[in-house]
Amino acid sequence: MQKQKILIIGGGGREHAVGWKVSQSERAGSLYFAPGNAGTLELGTNVTISATDIPKLVEFAKREKIDLTLALPDDPLSLGIVDAFRAEGLRIWGPTKAASELEWSKAYAKDFMKRHGVPTAKYEVFNDFEKAKKYVEKGAVPVVIKASGLALGKGVTVAQTKEEALRSLEDVLVKKVFGNAGNEVVIEEYLSGIEISAHAISDGKSFKMFPCSQDHKRIFDGNVGPNTGGMGVIAPLPFIDSAMMKRIEKEIIKPTIEGMAREGRPFVGILYPGIMLTPEGPKVFEFNARFGDPETQTYMRLLDTDLLDIVDASIDGKITDLKIKWKELYACNIAIASGGYPGSYEKGKVISGIMEAGMQPDVIIFHAGTKIVRQDLTTNGGRVLGVSATGSSMKEALDKAYKAIEKISFEGMQYRKDIGKSALGKN
Ligand code: AMP
Ligand code: GLY
Repeated sequence: MQKQKILIIGGGGREHAVGWKVSQSERAGSLYFAPGNAGTLELGTNVTISATDIPKLVEFAKREKIDLTLALPDDPLSLGIVDAFRAEGLRIWGPTKAASELEWSKAYAKDFMKRHGVPTAKYEVFNDFEKAKKYVEKGAVPVVIKASGLALGKGVTVAQTKEEALRSLEDVLVKKVFGNAGNEVVIEEYLSGIEISAHAISDGKSFKMFPCSQDHKRIFDGNVGPNTGGMGVIAPLPFIDSAMMKRIEKEIIKPTIEGMAREGRPFVGILYPGIMLTPEGPKVFEFNARFGDPETQTYMRLLDTDLLDIVDASIDGKITDLKIKWKELYACNIAIASGGYPGSYEKGKVISGIMEAGMQPDVIIFHAGTKIVRQDLTTNGGRVLGVSATGSSMKEALDKAYKAIEKISFEGMQYRKDIGKSALGKN
């Protein structure tokens, strides 16, 4: 069998988890990560090229004769990494710049949903502060203010009062705290309900669903404090039955994949809508054009099918024939973050206990912000590690992960103690 040279773009927990899964494929040869982290070093070679330096990545893929590149983070997708690789005849997996606009422009995504009847919160788009201000003054609270572009998951404010909404409008449109990502602002109706993540893999024409998962985005227990990239995730969700899965498929995924194809932007890759389960049914509050982080860390633990078979089916238009097998298990992934995150934090803290933690039954530690400095494993980012575990019940998986976490320590480390707690209540 021909072994493939594979390049994985990115350097977080998601990329470590995808690399871990890919490395189990019979077809996987050498793995390269750009830029990778201390965890990916155990699977292959870290290349010191940033995930957004597309010309250098193209040059590297050509020089090293890379057979397949997996484009996982949002930034390179929004910069057109898939278009650039394809233009050079290089095989790459992910949506084009035009297809990933569903994620990088919330204004585009909202108008798209309106055009194709995908259920979402009511909204208006503004680029003029005075007009936006008048709209908020006339409207109800809570109200949600969103910078339209990519803002590291920090461009959304759920404002409880009009004062807060106006402050956030001013931050985005006048003070430009998110730079060009805030040239436009989406003002959206507040949706109440349970928040879940759906993932579907598409080849541009048809798609297959992954089980739903649930991220916990706020920094503190009880879902309070500022939003983060994601502090912990569980999958599959005990409270999502097959009727709800079918609704999500029919009302959200199908019209989106078909709508993108009709608009001449076939969506190849992972479509990940953030969904609120409202009393009126599931509604989309955001689209992502990629695998979620940390959702992926649970999916890779549950996936029984070779990930490269799934990727090939997506690139080659063969999703209809694809059978995806999932292990009959539950998985969780708990993020361990630096003190101060998601605000400012220090790097370079020495991490201890990770070997012992990783030896606990059914536990795998995925690295996010880590770096080897003079043979020590040190912190190098906001989210540092993800402790994943599987079990025959969600409770068992969570107990295993939390037991493993007790072995790990570094100065200032923080993690949520309540991941999966509300879902367990609904078991
Ligand atoms: P996003 O960056 O779009 O994922 O939004 C960040 C968080 O804001 C989400 O995880 C939701 O908790 C919340 N959010 C976004 N849109 C809405 C909405 N329309 N109503 C209520 N909460 C929302
Ligand atoms: N789970 C959060 C994200 O990937 O955007």
